Amino acid sequence: MPEPFTNRRDFLNLALGAWAAAAAGGVAGVLGASALPVHEPPQTVKVQKSDLKDGIALAELGGSPVAVLVTPAGPVAFSLSCTHARCTVRWDPAARGFACPCHGGKFDAEGRVLAGPPPAPLRRLDLKDAGDAWEITG
Ligand code: FES
Repeated sequence: MPEPFTNRRDFLNLALGAWAAAAAGGVAGVLGASALPVHEPPQTVKVQKSDLKDGIALAELGGSPVAVLVTPAGPVAFSLSCTHARCTVRWDPAARGFACPCHGGKFDAEGRVLAGPPPAPLRRLDLKDAGDAWEITG
C-alpha cells in the first residue's frame, strides 16, 4: 500500500515527476508520429486527348497542376510545380519550354532546367494511354 504524502515537498516532487513524464511522452509521441513515413496512395487523373491545345493539356492531380505535353517522342506528363518554390510553371509554345513566373526559372520541353534558381527538373509523372484519354499517376 503506498504511503501517504508525508509533507508538501514529497507531494510537489511527485507532481513534478508526473508532469515531466507526461511532457516527455507527448514530445516522444509527436516526434514518433512525424518520423513515420507517410504512405499516401498514388493518385490518378484522366486527361482527355480532346483537351489538347497547342500540344499541351492541363489537369489537376491531388490539387496540384499537371500537364500532358505531346512531344515528337510522344506524350509526356509533368508536374507543373516549380522545383524551386512550388510556383506553377506555364508552357510557352513559342519557346517550346516551361517558364516560372516567380523567379524566372526556365525548363525545356523535357522538363530540364535551362535557367534560374530551380534545383531540379520538373517532376515527370507516369502516363498510360487509355484510349480517348491519358491516365496520369503520381
Ligand atoms: S518558384 Fe520557380 S523559379 Fe522560383
